Amino acid sequence: MEEKTYWFDVGRVSAVPLRGARTVRTPSREIAVFRTASNDIFALENKCPHKGGPLSEGIVHGRKVACPLHNWIINLEDGEATGADHGCAKKFPVKIERGHIYIDMGVLAPAE
Ligand code: FES
Repeated sequence: MEEKTYWFDVGRVSAVPLRGARTVRTPSREIAVFRTASNDIFALENKCPHKGGPLSEGIVHGRKVACPLHNWIINLEDGEATGADHGCAKKFPVKIERGHIYIDMGVLAPAE
């Protein structure tokens, strides 16, 4: 099946705090948009793979975020838990154009 691509403008890079995140709501889920200290942008479902904690409220360090509930460390590049923990937050493709962040909403499937 051919995947559709639909890049949705979620606002300016500067609207996301450095080493922080902001959230974007869709009809089916909430997405956390992260900005690292080196200005890289990542988008993950705002739901920790452990017990659903809000990853957007975690501390960003390097290319990882620490979940605020039980401190699982989630890799921002692929959404995978690191270390001995296992699980994965859904990752969304992002691109930056003229200072704006676009998330590929074409990969959105109904929430399980
Ligand atoms: S809910 Fe994220 S570590 Fe437990």
